[in-house]
Amino acid sequence: MPELIPVEPFDIIIFGATGDLARSKLFPALFHRWCDGQIPHTSAIIAAAREEMSSEAYMEQAAEHALGPDPSPERQTLWAEFARHVRYMVVDARGAQDKSGGDGGWGALKAALDPDPNKARLFYLALPPSIYGAACGAIGKHGLNTPGSRIILEKPIGHDFHSARQINEAVGAVFSEDQIFRIDHYLGKETVQNLLVLRFANALFEPIWNAGGIDHVQISVAESVGAGSRASYYDLSGALRDMVQNHILQLLCLVAMEPPASLDADAVRAEKLKVLRALRPVTDQSVGTCVVRGQYKAGLIDAAAVPGYAEEIGEDSKTETYVAIRAHIDNWRWAGVPFYLRTGKRMRARRSEIIIQFKPVPHDVIQADAGALQPNRLVIRLQPDEGVKLLLMTKDPGPGGMRLRYVPLNLSYAETFEKDYPDAYERLLMAVVRGNLGLFMRRDEVEAAWRWIDRLIGAWRDGACPLLPYAAGTDGPDKASLLLSRDERDWFDADSV
Ligand code: NDP
Ligand code: BG6
Repeated sequence: MPELIPVEPFDIIIFGATGDLARSKLFPALFHRWCDGQIPHTSAIIAAAREEMSSEAYMEQAAEHALGPDPSPERQTLWAEFARHVRYMVVDARGAQDKSGGDGGWGALKAALDPDPNKARLFYLALPPSIYGAACGAIGKHGLNTPGSRIILEKPIGHDFHSARQINEAVGAVFSEDQIFRIDHYLGKETVQNLLVLRFANALFEPIWNAGGIDHVQISVAESVGAGSRASYYDLSGALRDMVQNHILQLLCLVAMEPPASLDADAVRAEKLKVLRALRPVTDQSVGTCVVRGQYKAGLIDAAAVPGYAEEIGEDSKTETYVAIRAHIDNWRWAGVPFYLRTGKRMRARRSEIIIQFKPVPHDVIQADAGALQPNRLVIRLQPDEGVKLLLMTKDPGPGGMRLRYVPLNLSYAETFEKDYPDAYERLLMAVVRGNLGLFMRRDEVEAAWRWIDRLIGAWRDGACPLLPYAAGTDGPDKASLLLSRDERDWFDADSV
């Protein structure tokens, strides 16, 4: 089978083209697919925003991110070729009229698109979610929603259940559910895709993938960066809404869901939804013992001094930059198995991983002086240094009697596959062109995730869960270890697994 499967010609309009996401992720992703020859040259790529600018000026700015500081002459040639295919257009995504009473650029946009009703037409809303509804209204009003059209919505869809529902209603008034692609870019990561293969293409795990075989699960997404240039958004959001509501709950769903009948989008999404609905609500009574939240203070990362969150954003704030949760899934498969979730900014290192801790063997037949038996552990490293490790007990070879050693079977992506693979946005964009909804969130999933999060936020508002300080460059507030030590467990450290 060819490694690169071409896609049909398509038209893409990126609204919010002057924003951070479009420049730092979307144009680099399109450029990489272009360089690999995956984008047919009859495709139209349109960058749309309100600022007056020529296409040349826009692409000059976009080049900084896509090419990096020192591009080779070959890359520069490819970029010039790609840039000739991109058109920048002044369009007000909200559908507002322009100062001269014009149509805000929508007529010109319509004229620039292929009139073929069945050609894939992608509207990417790289915009604040508060204007998703208005943007969809304008697309509908100007007659741009053809049978081949798809709308791509960035996370977060709203800031709570009600705002998510409002957005979903407004988008749903113009587009049908099978035209709506709600992005969670973690679903496009190679290692996250591999979770499905690991679970459902190996007979090994499934018989023990339940409360009988698994002691607990840890999901950690640590970042060493701070709030950075997105501070105004982040301060209204915080770690729980920014990372847990979407990325971490999606990872939890993929670990915990029942095997779907197939990898058909709705079969997978229906199973994920069941997990979200089975999440035990965090209540006023439980929040103090199952949630820890924190905010970074000044500290050291890689020996460099970094400021605290409040200094970074220039004001005092009650927003959490770290959250750790002990979650439970109340169903037959997972009864009594805790899922420990944590995420934070300005942590010691960037590291995302899922750790499945299996139960100990039922009876120890090895002599006591051989060393302690440790239960098997599966470590799925999402980033960086992508890989999968299965920790096993083995006999230390050689003379000296029976000595036990806990060693990993190590599948390192870098060593095993020896090739680069597309980043998440590249894969997701091509999936939208193909109409593959499986890598995107369905409306009911997003709303179910918000219901659980809203309940949790409601519980911590009462002060039962204080905002704890932690020094940048550490693993978060000390109290986060209590979540596990109370259960006689520990967070696994990257270096110890
Ligand atoms: P920005 O704040 O940079 O805004 C993007 C663009 O939206 C702006 O360039 C602006 O374009 C347009 N815009 C902003 N406010 C309005 C308004 N009131 N009316 C009309 N247009 C407006 O956002 P990002 O690029 O950072 O993010 C875009 C979306 O992607 C957001 O939903 C964000 O949450 C999400 N996201 C972003 C990530 C990132 O890494 N940046 C990661 C994950 C999700 P103009 O005014 O020129 O038309
Ligand atoms: C985004 C969050 O969705 O994911 C950011 O809004 C976060 O705050 C980012 O930094 C992390 O993505 P990745 O792919 O770098 O792990």
